[in-house]
Amino acid sequence: MSRSSPASKPLKTQVCIIGSGPSGLLLSQLLAKAGIDTIVLDRQDRAHIESRIRAGVLESGTVQALQEAGVADRLNQEGIAHSGFDLAFDGDRHRIDLASLTGKSVVVYGQTEVTKDLFEARCADAQSFFFDAQDVTPEKLTTNNPTVRFVADGQTYVIHCDYVAGCDGFRGVSRAAIPEDALRTFERVYPFGWLGILVDTPPVSDELIYANHQRGFALASMRSRTRSRYYIQCDSTDEISAWSDERFWEEFALRIGSNAATHLHTGPSFEKSIAPLRSFVAEPIRHGRLFLAGDAAHIVPPTGAKGLNLAVADIRCLSRALIEHYESDNDHFLDTYSSTVLKRVWKVERFSWHLTTLMHQFPSNSPFEKRMQRAEFDYIASSEAASRSIAENYVGLPLEWED
Ligand code: APR
Ligand code: PHB
Repeated sequence: MSRSSPASKPLKTQVCIIGSGPSGLLLSQLLAKAGIDTIVLDRQDRAHIESRIRAGVLESGTVQALQEAGVADRLNQEGIAHSGFDLAFDGDRHRIDLASLTGKSVVVYGQTEVTKDLFEARCADAQSFFFDAQDVTPEKLTTNNPTVRFVADGQTYVIHCDYVAGCDGFRGVSRAAIPEDALRTFERVYPFGWLGILVDTPPVSDELIYANHQRGFALASMRSRTRSRYYIQCDSTDEISAWSDERFWEEFALRIGSNAATHLHTGPSFEKSIAPLRSFVAEPIRHGRLFLAGDAAHIVPPTGAKGLNLAVADIRCLSRALIEHYESDNDHFLDTYSSTVLKRVWKVERFSWHLTTLMHQFPSNSPFEKRMQRAEFDYIASSEAASRSIAENYVGLPLEWED
């Protein structure tokens, strides 16, 4: 005898947003400022989402978007403007002078802080959020009346909406809701990971240093003038337990170069994690009334610091498209969302893949390929045009719809 399903409680909104990471939160905030009603679902709770440690370099376009969203007060106070960064090869260093090459800079401000600022802005709208939402199921996506079913606190709900924004990251349900024969995916998994630590000691350098050393890649970054964020390339199969702080510091000091290492302040790490590196793109990023954005649509290796910035660029386009629909009954930007956004996504995928390929030790690289890496570094260091190419990608390419 089939059990009748508990009565589904109907809810109604204009845009249902699946995922409350940076993509979903920013979309919710931008649409709220335009008077568009949203409901945001996440399978985790706010504390879990805010606890995630992610990257921390914001393009000027990202800063502008957060200012337009009205969530940049702390960013404006605590963010650290950087006008350049270093590339290093076996101890030789070359500064990419962002300001002189592009007239722009980047801002160092942790994604964790961006997420907290967005939550702070949205908490006044708490009734629009469902945390610990389970069994989230988007349905009827190719009709004009899509629904999203989910369970929270033992109650089944069905959201009736106009549009669904899939902001649920790489392993979410939104991309999986697109039929396989309607979706193409492209992927490159790199044969190494990044071991990262957070430590409350002054950064080894005022600016970021990306280093390719014969022992492997290293990155010196920061969260503030008293909190450092360091990474080293590690094997994909490495376990954190195999990396004591002592072993990390010894390896990091060798790879970052003797000049920088003389300024290194070691100390006890309070966060240590290993992340895999992958490039991934799904096409198209629209299916009927479902629009994918952020990590649900694409993944970049962290070498170019593009993950959050690419997600924000998607949301700047998706929010504009939805606002145009509701305010002007103009669906041009919705209808061109996928093709327009993917055009820039592929350019950013290329940059992130290129910088990853240039700056890491690949087990399969022949001596010739290692020489090619060094030759490219020497070319960049000796060519203003080559340095400018790196710089204009690092500060952020214009949106394809940039007026
Ligand atoms: N149901 C509901 N929520 C889900 C589901 C699901 N089935 N699957 C995932 N989620 C939620 C996750 O709990 C997470 O909070 O979706 C959210 C996705 O957030 P992110 O993974 O941070 O993706 P996004 O918002 O696009 O931000 C991209 O975050 O992971 C970094 O490097 C990435 O910087 C990039 C940025
Ligand atoms: C970071 O500070 O976490 C960071 C900075 C630059 C990157 C990746 C991560 O390219």
